[in-house]
Amino acid sequence: MAMTKARHRVYAMAFSQMLVCLLLLSDLVASVSRDNFKTCDQSSFCKRHRRLQPGASPYVVLMESVKIQSSGMEVQILNTKNNVRLLMQVTAIKDNTARLKINELNPLRKRYEIPVGDALVGEPKTQDLKVLERSDSSISLGFEENKILITSRPFRVDFINKEEPVVSINAQGLLKFEHFREQSPPQNEGQEEPQDAPPAPAEEQADENKVEMEIPEDKEEVKKEGEGKQQEEDDNNEPGMWEETFKTFHDSKPYGPSSVGVDVSFPGYEYVYGIPEHAESMALKTTKSGDPYRLFNLDVFEYELYNPMALYGSVPVMLAHNEKRTVGVFWHNAAESWVDISSNTADKNFLSKIADIVGGVSNEIPQTDTHWISESGVIDVFIMMGPSAYDVFYQYAQLTGTTNLPPMFAVSYHQCRWNYNDQDDVKNVDANFDTFDIPYDVIWLDIEHTDGKRYFTWDASKFPNSIEMVNNVASKGRKMVTIVDPHLKSDGNYRVYQEAKDQGLYVKNKDGNDYDGWCWPGTSSWPDFSNPEVRKWWASKFLFDDYKGSTADLFTWNDMNEPSVFNGPEITFHKDVKHMDGFENRDLHNLYGYYVQQATAEGQLLRSNNQERFFVLTRAFFAGSQRWGAVWTGDNMGEWSHLKVSNPMLLSLSLVGITHSGADVGGFFKNPDTELLTRWYQAGAFQPFFRAHAHLDTKRREPYLQPEENMQIIRDVIRARYSYLPLWYTLFYEGEQRGAPPMRPLWVEYPTDKDTFNMDDEYLIGTSLLVKPITEPGQTGTQVYFPGKDQVWYDIASYKSYQGGQSTYIEAPLSKIPVFQKGGSIVPRKMRIRRSSALMTHDPFTLVVCLDKTGSATGSLYVDDYHSFNYRKGEYLLRSFLFQHNEFHSQSGDQFGSFSTKEWVEKIVIVGLSTRPTKATLNVKGVESSLQLSYSSDNSQVIIRKPGVNIATDFSIRLS
Ligand code: NOJ
Repeated sequence: MAMTKARHRVYAMAFSQMLVCLLLLSDLVASVSRDNFKTCDQSSFCKRHRRLQPGASPYVVLMESVKIQSSGMEVQILNTKNNVRLLMQVTAIKDNTARLKINELNPLRKRYEIPVGDALVGEPKTQDLKVLERSDSSISLGFEENKILITSRPFRVDFINKEEPVVSINAQGLLKFEHFREQSPPQNEGQEEPQDAPPAPAEEQADENKVEMEIPEDKEEVKKEGEGKQQEEDDNNEPGMWEETFKTFHDSKPYGPSSVGVDVSFPGYEYVYGIPEHAESMALKTTKSGDPYRLFNLDVFEYELYNPMALYGSVPVMLAHNEKRTVGVFWHNAAESWVDISSNTADKNFLSKIADIVGGVSNEIPQTDTHWISESGVIDVFIMMGPSAYDVFYQYAQLTGTTNLPPMFAVSYHQCRWNYNDQDDVKNVDANFDTFDIPYDVIWLDIEHTDGKRYFTWDASKFPNSIEMVNNVASKGRKMVTIVDPHLKSDGNYRVYQEAKDQGLYVKNKDGNDYDGWCWPGTSSWPDFSNPEVRKWWASKFLFDDYKGSTADLFTWNDMNEPSVFNGPEITFHKDVKHMDGFENRDLHNLYGYYVQQATAEGQLLRSNNQERFFVLTRAFFAGSQRWGAVWTGDNMGEWSHLKVSNPMLLSLSLVGITHSGADVGGFFKNPDTELLTRWYQAGAFQPFFRAHAHLDTKRREPYLQPEENMQIIRDVIRARYSYLPLWYTLFYEGEQRGAPPMRPLWVEYPTDKDTFNMDDEYLIGTSLLVKPITEPGQTGTQVYFPGKDQVWYDIASYKSYQGGQSTYIEAPLSKIPVFQKGGSIVPRKMRIRRSSALMTHDPFTLVVCLDKTGSATGSLYVDDYHSFNYRKGEYLLRSFLFQHNEFHSQSGDQFGSFSTKEWVEKIVIVGLSTRPTKATLNVKGVESSLQLSYSSDNSQVIIRKPGVNIATDFSIRLS
């Protein structure tokens, strides 16, 4: 129980009254254990779905009800056990994506659907879906090179790309759709019927009735009706359907059971990825012997590694990959969800009937079967047909958007701690970074900077002049971040709290009163961020007049937004908490943190009149959160195992759109030793979001406090991060355009190389850098796998070359993180490292050209003002670089952008030339001049000094 100690002290500090504090502590003694969080067995809906046996599904498609419209087709599905009808809609979405939606045909009340514009960036653009074949037992539809085959009995849907089935829905027969129902009389006694259930919209009902009248009753189904009633009664009597208790927490479940679940199979696929957030390997494991992966945003204290327990955020997106293709599935549902995974072999008999897959191959076809279960809402699945991982990234980006290009400071190094105590402390830390010549861009203030954990305020004795403090930091091009959590202290004298109360903006408890619970400030309430009006109000709190003491250089950190409720079930909201339109937290729990970050980002947009890019870090997230800022992996530990797991965790996030992500460098809890801290800085410097953070109880560990050797290594690697900022920035720009993550698993780039499919201890940055962080104590070398048989890789420190398609042992003493540049790539860098990225704005570039075996290389560079939205008006440069036939070319990479900048080309390093050139001739608009050239026989490096050309100018350099 050593781990509980730190948390106790912390919570203790958060409360002003000793009594409240002690009460809370006694609660939290229990809260740190695993059994404070539900297993599938303790969650009645999960249990009900999980016990279904394959083939048990009682659903059939009523083929007579098929309706084809230009936007897609719809058809009714009958539950033959209880005669409840569902409506299935199938649409083809632009760019090789299909959508399958199942709802109740005639629901008692409206089921929750995530509003368009929230997770989904807009209404997905549909395309024509043609009927290819139709019979009494099936219908097949076509779009692009895909076929969707809907089979009536047993009900299943197969998605076939170029004659190969890639995704099947309900192939295992696990569909279960719990319709809203009235509670049966015996259980009704003493219970009141909920008054505020949202009614089904009249329009929908009228339409549905029409459809229903057209359908002749099927005799066979009627025969089964009696049986169905029996089944329904059994279900209704089951404990947990109309109320449920976990530990001491009661869930009133006023609307009864409402869960949905179905299986999704990936025939031909052994590997599946995604569905973060879990402290898990990148390649997901089968869940046969344990719990399913859980998606339910929770504040899990000192989380355990390599298990399927839920963490702070949820992205219900899974990718499946084999040597031929990548496909993706997006389960568009924000309720608590569980996903089972098992590996099997495909039913070749069935698949060969529907497509040309087997073609004489006698081997068994691997298949991954997954089972998705959500507590409420509807079944709404997007199937992204690939065929490449990059296509899936793009397809998913079309649905939920991409990571907005972050301002340059956000991609730089961040210095955080719980807490920097006062203005002097901030001043000292800031000055020490300069004294020790270590760059940093952002210094962060945790909850103690506030007046008693009242966000948007300052502790007047510790931060009497925050504007001066921020301005001091900003004078060196740096920024500050303050924490703003969503719980508002119940205190009539706290303006923000009282405003929200007066305007009725809080989420309500089941009785309709403002919900209250405990968090850092003691008793608090939570604005209903699911309501756009509440988000508008919250955004206005960031206006400079409202947030006194803030400036345009102050940005935001949203923490505890799962939300964390210290005295709530599983440390979060009660499920029967009410949001707008009478929906419960049960329906949209996983979206709450998303909305908090969105409202905060909108606040920053508001205060700059949409001119400046925002920066918000969030702990809780959902699909689409990438549009609102960065994510970090929460309260990790200063242990080697946590350093190691940061790579797969960030890869999993990267695969599902959350691309600006990082882990607390050094680990949040505990004191890492200097070796671990040094190795962690090396890893963090090559991960997308690079921030050091530490718990209140840990020893100070700023880089300049480390022993000389470690300090120097840490300084070097932070400086290396700054030298590679042009590469990161270019990748974030490209990511905004097409959705590809800057941090990528190897298989994304080497899709046919099976050895990479579960490799998560090394990864790529873009396509040009290969990184293998050291994550074990005492390690002085590591085996590195170099992908690509025809590839050559160059050590970025020595330019020593390594052949692709094999593993090699690489020496990695403490001072070295193994990083390699791909032969065939040109990487832009800035080598004049200054105190902050802003001070490097006008500095020149060094272009590092590593040649492939044919003596060629390509690369690109994106440049703009690094902070505003002017790039969206065309004020940017996209440069394209090529080296071929001994000539280097810099050209405009697109015809749209134009931007004037002082940045110029200072140096070009060329590695891997087969012959030694003696002359370099620069050509700018036909005017030739000679350049200084030096050659190092050591790994055949050619250095061209001072081409001196502005980066916006086209030029070439001929070597001879
Ligand atoms: C929990 C967060 O995960 C951590 O990073 C932060 O320092 C504390 N809350 C205090 O705000």
